[in-house]
Amino acid sequence: PYPFLAELRNRSPVCQVDPNGVWFVTRYDDVMAALKDPQRFSSEGLALLAEPPWLKPNPFAQSLVTAEPVRHGKLRALINRAFGVTGMARLEAFVRQTAEELATEAVRRRDVDFVQEFAFLLPRAVIGHMIGVDRSVYPKLQRWGMAMATVTGADTPEKQHEIRDALGEMGRYLDEVLEDRRRQPREDMVSDLLRAEVDGQRLSREDLVSFLYLLLPAGLETTTNLIGNMTVYLSRYPEHLEKAREDKAHRVNFIEEVLRIECPIPLGYRLTSTDVRIGDTTLPQGSMVFLSAASANRDERQFSEPERFLPGRDKQTQHLTFGHGIHYCLGAQLARLEARIGLEALLPRIQALVMKRREIDWVYSLAVRGPAALPVELIP
Ligand code: HEM
Repeated sequence: PYPFLAELRNRSPVCQVDPNGVWFVTRYDDVMAALKDPQRFSSEGLALLAEPPWLKPNPFAQSLVTAEPVRHGKLRALINRAFGVTGMARLEAFVRQTAEELATEAVRRRDVDFVQEFAFLLPRAVIGHMIGVDRSVYPKLQRWGMAMATVTGADTPEKQHEIRDALGEMGRYLDEVLEDRRRQPREDMVSDLLRAEVDGQRLSREDLVSFLYLLLPAGLETTTNLIGNMTVYLSRYPEHLEKAREDKAHRVNFIEEVLRIECPIPLGYRLTSTDVRIGDTTLPQGSMVFLSAASANRDERQFSEPERFLPGRDKQTQHLTFGHGIHYCLGAQLARLEARIGLEALLPRIQALVMKRREIDWVYSLAVRGPAALPVELIP
């Protein structure tokens, strides 16, 4: 996709790619300006997509991502704590223990699909742990996470039934968790949220379950793809594997550069609440806009030699992979932590990592960037 994006940036940086009126914005400054303007580039429109007539009422539709700015600010302030320094410290030991178990097992088996057997299992365990469900329930998380993502394509009664069924099942499990923490609070995020108040009121059951639910689509596939992308670059640049093994600063820089160059969520979605001008182009009110973070991250107006993989480069954290502004990714520190601890669990256990196929089999989607599978040999 990257040569095509470069051409759009240079020739037609704000354009309509299909006649249905979806706009595509590809330059760094333009994507950034839209992200900084949530009033005119609104996220509320997304809630409509999540609640078609056959799914109404959908308790998961109104979440943090789609809340209007004032309410969003209040909800977000409550939740930040769980994802800030204290929250990360609380999670770190769990992440490390899980990563070490997974790495030990993968290296013991030697030939593995690294996506299925590591990159996916680590974030799955972390989210399962955060939302407080029992370990035996982790295998269900993927089905629940996919349910909302497939709402717009669910055009048969069978598919619609499957989605309602998955969401209903998740709702029941989350109610159990909430009930359990109400009776016996723990040192965890769910207990914190149960105690929290907005404008003097406790959060409703709908607010709580929609937030816990949101963590699945937001944090599962995204982090799987980050860890998968990181593995691709380790195999492409074995010299970085050696350096990352020795040096924590290099591990951090390496992950940051992987985040820039292969953006797990290449597009952001917004709806214009009024007519807006970007450069020389006017987008009418009600336009659907795709903000291309993948393109912004390789914009030569912002990054020098953007096509080169250069850990530790200038402006290395200025990529837009986690968005910007009020919706800036809540899980950015967690995703970085999982990637770094994943490396720290894996690297001391292997001498080399050999890709079994020459070509990477990327997930086939405009909305996602990561390897679909990574058959590797882990050489101890
Ligand atoms: C928001 C990317 C990991 C939770 C976002 C946004 C992006 C993003 C681009 C902004 C969306 C927008 O502006 O419309 C990523 C990437 C990740 C990642 C690339 C991994 C590499 C996580 C994790 C969690 C998480 C691990 C939590 C477990 C969230 C939440 C929001 C969000 C709750 C909504 C924030 C808000 O609307 O205020 N993420 N994310 N993300 N992310 Fe992440």
